Order: sequence, then structure tokens, then C-alpha cells
Amino acid sequence: MSERYDTARRLALSDPEGYWSQHISLVDWVTPPTKMLDSDRAPLHRWFTDGTLNTCYNAVDRHVLAGHGDRAAIIYDSPVTGTSATLTYDQLLEQVGAFAGGLRDLGVGAGDRVVIYMPMIPEAVVAMLACARLGAVHSVVFGGFAPRELAARIDDARPIVVVTASCGIEPGRVLDYKKMVDEALTISTHRPNALVLVQRPQLPATLEDSREYDWSDVIRSGATHPAAPVTVRATDPLYILYTSGTTGRPKGVVRDNGGHALAMAWALPNVYDIHPGQVWWSASDIGWVVGHSFIVYAPLISGATTVLYEGKPVGTPDAGAFWRVIAEHSVQGLLAAPTAIRAIKRVDPDGELIADHDVTSLRNLFLAGERLDPDTYSWATDLLGIPVVDNWWQTETGWPIAANLRGFDPMPIKPGSPSVAVPGFDVRILDEHGQEVEAGVEGAICIRLPLPPGTLPTLWGDDDRFVRSYLSTFDGYYLTGDGGHIDEDGYLFVMGRTDDVINVAGHRLSTGSIEAVLAAHPAVAECAVIGAADALKGQIPRGFVVLRSGWQQDHSELVAELIRSVRADIGAIATPKDIVVVDGLPKTRSGKILRKSMREIADRGDSTVPATIEDPAVLDMLRSVLRP
Ligand code: COA
Ligand code: AMP
Repeated sequence: MSERYDTARRLALSDPEGYWSQHISLVDWVTPPTKMLDSDRAPLHRWFTDGTLNTCYNAVDRHVLAGHGDRAAIIYDSPVTGTSATLTYDQLLEQVGAFAGGLRDLGVGAGDRVVIYMPMIPEAVVAMLACARLGAVHSVVFGGFAPRELAARIDDARPIVVVTASCGIEPGRVLDYKKMVDEALTISTHRPNALVLVQRPQLPATLEDSREYDWSDVIRSGATHPAAPVTVRATDPLYILYTSGTTGRPKGVVRDNGGHALAMAWALPNVYDIHPGQVWWSASDIGWVVGHSFIVYAPLISGATTVLYEGKPVGTPDAGAFWRVIAEHSVQGLLAAPTAIRAIKRVDPDGELIADHDVTSLRNLFLAGERLDPDTYSWATDLLGIPVVDNWWQTETGWPIAANLRGFDPMPIKPGSPSVAVPGFDVRILDEHGQEVEAGVEGAICIRLPLPPGTLPTLWGDDDRFVRSYLSTFDGYYLTGDGGHIDEDGYLFVMGRTDDVINVAGHRLSTGSIEAVLAAHPAVAECAVIGAADALKGQIPRGFVVLRSGWQQDHSELVAELIRSVRADIGAIATPKDIVVVDGLPKTRSGKILRKSMREIADRGDSTVPATIEDPAVLDMLRSVLRP
């Protein structure tokens, strides 16, 4: 371990307040904090409690004021519509100020919520920043979620305004967002005051209700009295991002303003080695944490240029799309999901399409969101001849917990490992009794409290659930939900979730929510969903259902119905690979379904059978179904 990393790591752990106070000037504060960490309500911790600032000011205004207004802020590249556009910091400021003015006219003020359900278009980023400008709290919902999921988030966040677009564009089909929002609003009990909609030529929507507004009208009227940044406390919420937990009810991860701005400003240069004026591309979606942190906030707060890509790794139009974007915009750093690289490799196994593009601008390829398998790592390394860098984190932390710090102290890469704990994250491996294990021994990956700035202070409106879900298993530790080990050199190896959260093509889903959809069908007496290994998507849901006695229906017809229900209620991203009708499910004597044993048989062919199993014969019977 090098001295620079080691010194930073030790200081950040022994004196977190001292360490982060050295970095507070990365952010422009209205009132710089004098108090770094407040642990009065431990295990709840808050950073920079007496500091005040505005996040949008940090992401936009300050760059314009520093004379960089003509620098590109956003490069929008949309192969699905055949368009591209560049927005300078000057133009971004103009649009954000105007839209914030328009939102204010619609009644949005500091602390109010705004739900954003939008495709990957610049207006989505403008909407997020406009909320931040007003001190309002945005909650972006991934466009791939179905109306029911959107409704659940609307009911929890209780927004004043919903911002959407008339449509999203998936390869081969146009998605009617307006229809989905309308449907969500018939399901939700909460009614927002207004809906603002960006009209897209591919499928314009009809605005009927007097509470429905066209984006261009809102921004035009807002431009006559643009909103200035509203000063908020560092601890005030910037956004809520719902993520899948082990139950069907999503968790509203809260992000604060001050700690988040600081963490973003620290992470982009130090982890990703991207600096002001450089071009950065995070090929994710604004609906996920990777999009929040590394499409929007980190690059803009840092004064870099961010690429907003409305397309896929393959099929828009081909598997050379990533290489084209890198070449066309001289991208210096790319963050993507391993699935995207696997998809490219599957279509273009020899990487022939890269020859058509000059990708020499790219210095690092970062991969995150799911386990980086050694095959994908080697293929990308051989093809690109640059460091391929794994980094591990989650919605809750907002920025990497473990990484190879390319801009701070690059270290040798060990395939299969996201490298080392980032300074500020005290990563420990604990056994089931909460005791730390030795190097190389697998256990629960936990982080000793306090978590560093930028990580979740709580769940929206539910401190108890926050404590129950993350802080109560092991006293003094945050439970990540992942299992793994740390080797003799301090490198972390993440082996996968220890709970019922699954990761499908880098999208985090809960098996519990898919089970809830299956269980709602009248034919289903009980069911289980597991995430089975998949060569392209990492994991893919597989369902097992036991029918009510006497239920007579052709199985293939029933399965098709169940799959349709999952797509309609959760979204196409959760489509199960298969659903199998079985005679029974393996359970413990207390009735808990042995999903872990089922997953192990599906993935490896064998499983350690718990002593508490009710009837081992049921598991034996399932073997041929799980692993045909
Ligand atoms: N809005 C609406 N629907 C969406 C969507 C969105 N934003 N994203 C995906 N979907 C739909 C797809 O259209 C597809 O629908 P279909 O079953 O009717 O065809 C379904 O959800 C599954 O999509 P996807 O998971 O994208 O699978 P795919 O087989 O179409 O494509 C990949 C495979 C690998 C190309 C794709 O999964 C991919 O690009 N993965 C990378 C994802 C990523 O960057 N994740 C990072 C998150 S941090
Ligand atoms: P999300 O909250 O959607 O970002 O998903 C977080 C989860 O994805 C983590 O808890 C891990 O299970 C998984 N994950 C993310 N990045 C990695 C990685 N680099 N290696 C292994 N798993 C990862």
C-alpha cells in the first residue's frame, strides 16, 4: 500500500472531522461549516450541520462566475432520435434559472418534493438542478418502472409537481410516458398540484387537465423572472432516490446537500481522475444512483463536461456505439456497467468495430453496479489497452466505497477486486456474531460508523426503518448487504448480496416485489423468486409457483399471464427468465423459504442444506427444475 493512500486512509478514520475539514473548500458555501460531524443522535450522524450552501450554485453558477460560461456542460448524444446537442454552462444556467422560476410559480419552494419521471434528455438534468436551485427535493424515478412502482414513489414522496416527457424511446418502440403517469396518478392516493411535460416529436401528448403544463410554456414564463439559488442547510435533503430493499416496499434513500456536494467534488478527480474542462461519460441512466452522482452532480460540481447518452451499448445502431461516442466527444473517462461490456462482447467478440473509431482520448474504463467478472475484465483490458477499473458502492453510499483511486494514488489492479476502501469508509468483514474475521475469510461487508460525507443520513421520513435495516444488525456498523473478504494486501473482494436483493443488468431489484406480483394472482398459493446467474445480465429473476389446490389452467398460459403481470406491475426490466410450476417449495421448519439453497443449486449444482429444513425431499425434487 502506498504511503499517500495509507496516510489519507488512516487520517480519515482516526480523525474524520479533521480529514474532511481539509476538503471543505472544494465546495462554495454561503456559510462555511464550523462543525464537521454531529453524532448527538448516534447511530444517526450528520455532516456540516452549521454550513449553508446551494448545490445548483455549485454545479452551475460558480463556473459561469469563474469565466467558464462557454465551456460545454452537457453533451447530449441520442442515437435513438438521431440528434445531439451541446449545452454550455451559460446556457445551462439560463435554462435552470428559468425552469426554477417556472416551478416556483407552480408553488414549489424549499423542502417541497418534485417527482421526475423522464428519459435521458437534457430537460431531465435541468429539472433536477432547478429543484436543487429552489431547495426543493427531487425524486427521479427510472423510466423503466411501470405505473404501479411510480405510484408507490409518488405516495411516499408526496410531490407538489411531477415532471415528465411525452415519451421515452427504447430500440424498436416508443413508450407513452404520459399514459404511464396518468395511470400512476389513478393508482396513487396523493395528487400533485401540477404536471409539467416535455413534448417530444416522436409521440406528442395531449394536455387536457388544467393542471397540466407544457415544459416550454413553464420555462418561457419562468425566464421572465428566473430564480436565484436558495440557501439551504448542509443537512437539508437534496433528493430522495428509491431503491429496492428486501421487501416489496422501496426505500427512500435521502441525500443531503452539503456532504453530497463535497463527496462529489472529491470523488470525480480522486477516484475517476477527471478534472475541470475534461469530458466524462457515465453510461447509466439518471434514474439510478450512478446517474445522479456521475451523470449529473459530480461532473457539473467539478466543472467538467458530462455526456448524456440516450442509447444502448448495442443495437443503437450497433456494438460500436460506445467507441463512436468516445471518439466523437473525446471522452477521457467512461463509467459503465459490466453488462454493457458483456453485451458489446457478445455481438462483437473480437472487438472489430473499435477499429472504425479513434478512442485514444480514453484514459480509464470504470465499471460498477455489479460484479466485474474476470472474463469481461480481461476482454476490455486487451481491447482497450488502458486500466479497466472496478469500483464498488451502492445507492445508499452515493459514491465509491472501494475503488482504485486513479487520480489520487493509482495502485496495481487485481482482477475480481474493486481494490481498496476509499478514505473515509472503514470497511470491515464481520462474522455472524459481529466479530471481525481474518484476512481472506468471507463474511458480511460492513462499514464502521460514522459513514463519510455524502452517504445517506436516513430513509425518507423513517429514521426507525433506517436503523432497523442498516444499523441494528451489528452495533456501530452499517450493513452493506454484500458479502465478501479482504485479502492480506487490503484488497476487497465482493462476492454478492447476502439478502434478497438481485442485480439484473446493473439494475437493482427486489425478489420480494416480484414475489408480491406473483402471489397476487389467484392461481398462486405460494411462490419464490431467486436471482439466477446469467451470462449477459449478471443475474436474472426466476420464479417458482405452487398452485392453489384444484386450480385448473394450462401451465404455459398461466406462466405467460404471470410474466405479463410482472412486466405490467414492475416494468420490463424485471421480466423473469422463466416461471416454473412446482409441487412445493423448500422451507425451514419455521416456514422460511430456502431461497439461498435454491439459488446455490441453480448456479452451482449443489448447496449446503440447512439443518432446519422441514422436508429435504422437496429440495431434492426441485434439483432438476432448478438446474435442468
Ligand atoms: N425505459 C423503459 N423500458 C426500459 C428501459 C427504460 N429506461 N430500460 C430498459 N427497458 C426495457 C427494455 O426495453 C426491455 O424491454 P423488452 O423486454 O420489452 O424488450 C426490458 O426493459 C429489459 O431491458 P434491458 O435490461 O435493457 O435488456 P435488453 O435485453 O433489452 O438489453 C443490455 C441488454 C445489456 C443491452 C442492457 O441491459 C444494457 O444496456 N445494460 C446496461 C445497463 C446499465 O447501464 N446499467 C447501469 C445501471 S447503473
Ligand atoms: P445500487 O444500489 O443499485 O447501486 O446497487 C448496489 C449493489 O450492486 C451493491 O450492494 C452490490 O451488490 C452491487 N454492486 C455494485 N457495484 C459492484 C461491484 N463493483 N462489484 C460487485 N457488486 C457490485
